[in-house]
Amino acid sequence: MLAQLFYVSKRSPKCSDEDIKKILEVSVANNAKKNITGVLLYSKEKFLQCIEGELNHLLALYDKIKLDKRHSEAIMLGLIPVKERNFPSWQMAGKSVDLNKVDFQLQMSAAEREEFADILSGKAKSAERVNKIIQLFFK
Ligand SMILES: Cc1cc2nc3c(=O)[nH]c(=O)nc-3n(C[C@H](O)[C@H](O)[C@H](O)COP(=O)(O)O)c2cc1C
Repeated sequence: MLAQLFYVSKRSPKCSDEDIKKILEVSVANNAKKNITGVLLYSKEKFLQCIEGELNHLLALYDKIKLDKRHSEAIMLGLIPVKERNFPSWQMAGKSVDLNKVDFQLQMSAAEREEFADILSGKAKSAERVNKIIQLFFK
């Protein structure tokens, strides 16, 4: 069954931009083998990731990712069955986000900005809403 999994986590202060480059490289290689696609948003403090693929592959990957020392406190925001992928052409696309500038850069409304803050703090747990907000970054 095709599914999407969303989570937010805390980026370790030791996780450098070079580390993120490596994460993305390994992800592209590994995810291609499992037909997993998705996106990784990262700021100085947070990660927000969407992975999509076969349900059992997603759960196995999430179990592995959770153990990674380059972040902590992963909170699953949603796990939903889907008919099609949002990011079919990306094994893993990365995008850096400056949390203080998102409303300006993406012309987010005040409500969206507030919702994004709730997502990053793990409070908002609607996969549909998380999906909408993530899409804004990859328009
Ligand atoms: C925020 C974050 C996101 C990650 N996303 C992925 C991913 O999508 N796919 C992946 O294979 N590894 C991902 N990783 C890396 C895994 O935790 C792990 O280091 C890697 O899969 C190990 O690959 P290997 O078994 O080939 O050595 C991520 C790590 C972090 C910290």
